[in-house]
Amino acid sequence: MFMNPTDLAHLDGQICTCRLCPLSLERKLAVPGCGPAPAEIMLVGEAPGREEDLTGKPFVGRAGRLLDAALEQAGLERSDVFITSVIKCRPPQNRKPKKNEIDQCRHYLLSQIEILHPNIICLMGNTATQAVLGIEGIAKLRGRVLQGRYLITFHPAAVLRNRNLMNDFVSDLKMLNARSHPLV
Ligand code: URA
Repeated sequence: MFMNPTDLAHLDGQICTCRLCPLSLERKLAVPGCGPAPAEIMLVGEAPGREEDLTGKPFVGRAGRLLDAALEQAGLERSDVFITSVIKCRPPQNRKPKKNEIDQCRHYLLSQIEILHPNIICLMGNTATQAVLGIEGIAKLRGRVLQGRYLITFHPAAVLRNRNLMNDFVSDLKMLNARSHPLV
């Protein structure tokens, strides 16, 4: 499907210079996300952490390394997926994003989805699921595909804290492979 690369570059520019919420005052770098464009598969996390803030790249810290390992076990590579987060600037001390921060930032994610038109969007954790679908309850929702397009799974940081979740996390990511092409 047609995608104008200028639109994504323009959006990245808006994100990197955004001043819509106070997180912009403390960030080193905003983290718009990266990956193929257009993208068949999109992964959505919560918010950049310390290493993401320093590099401007998504999921490059410990959670990112776990995500890479899980993607590999699921038969995917990072270069196969567009990775981003609900909010694009790091909250202090990696606290959870506040509602007003999500409300100010959500339109960037929605624009990314519109521009990249992925076939399947993996919402990793409650923050992403709540921000996009308005529902929560990861324990019940994980492994489910909603509206034919949104796969819900754990956030990689939750898997880091509880390694027992790794098998389920990998099996969820395997579903991305199967759903990465539009149904004909
Ligand atoms: N956690 C996220 O949700 N996003 C990142 O980019 C890094 C850690």
